[in-house]
Amino acid sequence: MLTDHLPRIRLACLPTPLEELPRLTKALGGPRLYIKRDDQTGLAGGGNKARKLEFSVAEALRQGADTLVTLGGVQSNHCRQTAAAAARCGLRCIVVLRGHAPAASNGNLLLDYLLGAQVVFSGDRTREAVAEDVVREQRAAGHRPHLIPLGASNEIGAVGFAAAIEEIDRQVKEQRLHVDRVVFGSSSYGTQAGLCVGAKAIGFAPQIAAIAIDSTRAEVQAGVAGLAEATSRRLGLTLTVAPDEVVAYDGYLGAGYAVMGEPEKEAISLVARTEGILLDPVYTGRAMAGLIDLIRQGEFGKDETVVFWHTGGSAALFAYADQLLEGKTR
Ligand SMILES: Cc1ncc(COP(=O)(O)O)c(C=O)c1O
Repeated sequence: MLTDHLPRIRLACLPTPLEELPRLTKALGGPRLYIKRDDQTGLAGGGNKARKLEFSVAEALRQGADTLVTLGGVQSNHCRQTAAAAARCGLRCIVVLRGHAPAASNGNLLLDYLLGAQVVFSGDRTREAVAEDVVREQRAAGHRPHLIPLGASNEIGAVGFAAAIEEIDRQVKEQRLHVDRVVFGSSSYGTQAGLCVGAKAIGFAPQIAAIAIDSTRAEVQAGVAGLAEATSRRLGLTLTVAPDEVVAYDGYLGAGYAVMGEPEKEAISLVARTEGILLDPVYTGRAMAGLIDLIRQGEFGKDETVVFWHTGGSAALFAYADQLLEGKTR
């Protein structure tokens, strides 16, 4: 196993299921669609961060930390899962969220509070600057804080997705599938860097194709290539992923990060009604909207087999209830 030599604690329910989506496949007229259910990783509602946190929190514990500090958007799935991981490990948790406190604390923000995290809003300052202040203040107060970066997307966390490639590779072989592509949403690059390194390390052949959530193709390519190199080194490997090997579609940025538009709404509704699976307004709704469009444009062929990697996030649906219900009977 690629990660056998690295500190790891068990936080996620693994392996997550790899399931066929026959009704969605039919609704779109092909290709043959499968889904990798990382919305089922557990850890207070599932999501992709559980895989990274198994390594990030193990490293924090190895360094003797008593407090996890991390940062994200108001509806950060990463902060919610970090708060859950801290609770599971008997650690304190402080999450720094962008901007000002919203009028209602729902979705992931509600869960942050329920999970016992201290919530700090960055106001008009950057989250990074506020998080560094929090770390300094915690140290001065005699605590041992450990800062986990945005999305746990450094080489420590990204190895979780190299390990995930070994997991899906086993499932693809067991189910005797020929997969052409693996499609998912990419934001802070950790998921994608881990998947790319894992795929190259074990010779996993399907294309690793990201739908960019909030950055341009060139930004994704540079970000993933840089993080992939560090991730490879952490795994004790010397492989590199060149920017032009990184596949990213940036035509689905809509009106910006966390702004749900009609494509996301259509994707969320279609997947819910055909397969009984919940996506989210920020990441998986956008990633699925991109996949649907690429199928409709003929970029992904009808004879292919495509795995959609569900990275979680459905807790955020509740923060978008009014927009999701617009025009529908309540
Ligand atoms: C539900 C969900 N999907 C996808 C992503 C993107 O993962 P990454 O930041 O590793 O690119 C995130 C977090 O950013 C997320 O919360």
